Amino acid sequence: MKFLLKPTNPEKLEVDVLIKYCWEGEFSNVASLPKAFLDELKTLAEKEEFKGKESQTLFVYPKGDLAAYKFFLFGIGKKEEFDIYKLYKLIATSIKRVIDTKPAKIALIVDDYWMKKYPVERVIQSVVEAVNLSSYKFIKYKGEEEQKNNRPIEEVLLSLSAPKLTLGEEGMRKGEIFSNSTVFARDLINEPPEITSPSYLADVALNIAKESKNTVKVKIMDKDEIAKLGMNSFLGVASGSDKPPKFIHLSYKPAGSSKKIVLIGKGITFDTGGLSLKSAEHMETMKLDMAGAAAILAVFHAITLLNPIIEVVGLIAACENMPSGKALKPGDILKAMNGKTIEVLNTDAEGRLTLADAISYANLKEKPDEIIDLATLTGACMVALGDDIAGMWGNNTKLIDSISKSGENVGEWVWNMPLFSDYKSLIKSHIADVKNIQTGRYGGAITAALFLAEFVGDTPWVHLDIAGPAFAERDTPLSSIGGVGFGVRTLLEYILGNL
Ligand code: BES
Ligand code: MN
Ligand code: ZN
Repeated sequence: MKFLLKPTNPEKLEVDVLIKYCWEGEFSNVASLPKAFLDELKTLAEKEEFKGKESQTLFVYPKGDLAAYKFFLFGIGKKEEFDIYKLYKLIATSIKRVIDTKPAKIALIVDDYWMKKYPVERVIQSVVEAVNLSSYKFIKYKGEEEQKNNRPIEEVLLSLSAPKLTLGEEGMRKGEIFSNSTVFARDLINEPPEITSPSYLADVALNIAKESKNTVKVKIMDKDEIAKLGMNSFLGVASGSDKPPKFIHLSYKPAGSSKKIVLIGKGITFDTGGLSLKSAEHMETMKLDMAGAAAILAVFHAITLLNPIIEVVGLIAACENMPSGKALKPGDILKAMNGKTIEVLNTDAEGRLTLADAISYANLKEKPDEIIDLATLTGACMVALGDDIAGMWGNNTKLIDSISKSGENVGEWVWNMPLFSDYKSLIKSHIADVKNIQTGRYGGAITAALFLAEFVGDTPWVHLDIAGPAFAERDTPLSSIGGVGFGVRTLLEYILGNL
């Protein structure tokens, strides 16, 4: 998909579909179009009771009044309800409608009001991301017929006044990089779990390094090295699987960087629950359990194109959680790299065991200024916040606020949750320093975050529980069923420091 900014008068754009957005009750807003066409449009809108309500649509064949073959008027609701989340959602919804007609070339008229409320760059970036992400399909395992029938949009023109072009170009470039790397994460998550083994993720990382011409460096540690480092909590989880674990270390260090951050992604390539086996129903989607890792890989995929002046290290403790004769058992005690002992009472609470070592490694070996982890950690977080919102926990208000703002800028919902220290007593073990599940039933996403905090120490840290938004159970405006690539754009936005 190719994006182009066009200062040309929209009536002259030769495209299959020209999309114009219309506020509720503000039909006058459409006035920049030729009079003859406008008269026809008004009659039609009245007949079809088009009012510009959210997602209301009107298709018109302009019969020579416009250069476009088809004209598509799309309702975007009330001006006072407009915000960046709406922008993403409405653009995406309009594109999903238009895609059904299989256009090769489309044009969108970028509304001036959007650029009054938000900077030009931000608006264009969001529009580009929304168009690209809403068009995504994972069809590589479909038959020949469906592959052939899939004709993605080739060219997207954004109609914008000439003085805004320079700022627009920058937004377009960022939007393309942000959305393409999100697609990169989606592809990884959607791939079957037999393919995306720990070794496969390691190969993906190595390939990222290769393509970056060594701007990104990658080190893969295998089982012996992991053992030598004392990451026995991670190895405990890996022990049930025939697939060898890999500890993936990515780094990007530009000249003149003043800050170093470590990004950690949960990389369980399949979560059966281990001996505390999941039900068939709960296991169905568990290839998603490496979505955090996929997001980190996607960030490094994009990083050399964006050249931020900040040192970034990415860590992934990749393994599979399987039951077997060699598997971790409830009652086992594991010692993490930082020396803390963990009583394992449920082998399905495995993510925190792998993260305990990745976080310890970050602190002991990297001494970063900040740690951010992304993990499909708990069903409890989904109970609290539903399918679309990530839970956020952290120990540093400034970092929490920055991540909040970054998420908001790119239309990803992250919600700050309490790191309520009184609940620490719920993960005290009689026999070890901590246990991997809590006493009692409620607040499971909080106690999981408190468990991670045991390994963080004083380093400024944010934990994002992405169990809900990592995977779409049904089609949504910005995503189709499957991997969402959640967190990639929030992290990129944060790294670029556009706060
Ligand atoms: N990977 C799951 C969490 C999950 C559930 C992610 C649903 C996405 C969708 C995690 O490893 C897990 O199994 N968590 C358990 C923890 C429990 C045993 C304390 C859970 O949430 O049930
Ligand atoms: Mn689990
Ligand atoms: Zn898991």
